[in-house]
Amino acid sequence: MKHRIVAYRTLPAEVAALLRERADLVDVDADVPGALAAALADADGAIGASVKITPAMLDGARVKALSTISVGFDAFDVADLTRRGIVLAHTPDVLTESTADTVFALILASARRVVELAEWVKAGHWSASIGPAQYGVDVQGKTLGIVGLGRIGGAVGRRAALGFDMRVLYTSRRPNPDAERRYGARRVDLDELLATADFVCVQVPLTADTHHLIGAAELRKMKKSAILINASRGATVDEAALIDALASGAIHGAGLDVFETEPLPADSPLLSMPNVVALPHIGSATHETRHAMARCAADNLLAALDGTLTRNVVNPEVLTR
Ligand code: DGY
Repeated sequence: MKHRIVAYRTLPAEVAALLRERADLVDVDADVPGALAAALADADGAIGASVKITPAMLDGARVKALSTISVGFDAFDVADLTRRGIVLAHTPDVLTESTADTVFALILASARRVVELAEWVKAGHWSASIGPAQYGVDVQGKTLGIVGLGRIGGAVGRRAALGFDMRVLYTSRRPNPDAERRYGARRVDLDELLATADFVCVQVPLTADTHHLIGAAELRKMKKSAILINASRGATVDEAALIDALASGAIHGAGLDVFETEPLPADSPLLSMPNVVALPHIGSATHETRHAMARCAADNLLAALDGTLTRNVVNPEVLTR
């Protein structure tokens, strides 16, 4: 019998066709209240992104596998899925380089005031040669502190050290000998990183342990000239504390791709701060990468339902039962 799969995000046609060859594919509009939970009740698996899947939505469901088109899996209660024996798959690796590009774009845009000054030109303010009022700060040769040197953090560090001659410091639960050997990254504790780095780049997944990892106390430890970069998840940083730090000049600026509430509410003070570059969570959002992620998630789901999935599994304990 064919598997029944729910897609709660529009998939590229080719990826949807691949799933249809092997399964009955049901498209669901997750914005319709109750629609996704109802569809899950009668499905073997589901594929999608950016929608919170709560334990209540799985009560009574026969779902065996969930496949998220993202590397982050904070939209799921992993412990609950594991208890239920539901495999959760995600899409690391395929998005590493494009997400690292976004992080680096934020570093450059924040330091060189690219967005602010591009808007200034378009608003017709460029009427004479620019002066110190339009100067930014250097990126090359500075110190980058990466909080969490995983796959994406590692790709950011490589760009920084090999492309921009930056000194790379990092914190991580485990040492990263590859980064230390390839580009001289140095593992330090968080306090040293915060006190030393010119750019503090948050690259940790959002978990109970990393929620508000960067709060008022951590922001106070940063240099007044430092710029905070976050393209991980909004809630790894205490946004209210960040707003205070930016408003009071406790730090120089921020480059942000993620926020505690997304889309960013229209009344967020971040929107009117010239020292903030705000992007709409575009980390991995290129045509090529999003296609590769959808394909990876579809392959993950089919393999999980066949019982052959061995990689990209968030809760591998389920596979050994
Ligand atoms: C990811 O893959 O986790 C990106 O942030 C997109 O949600």
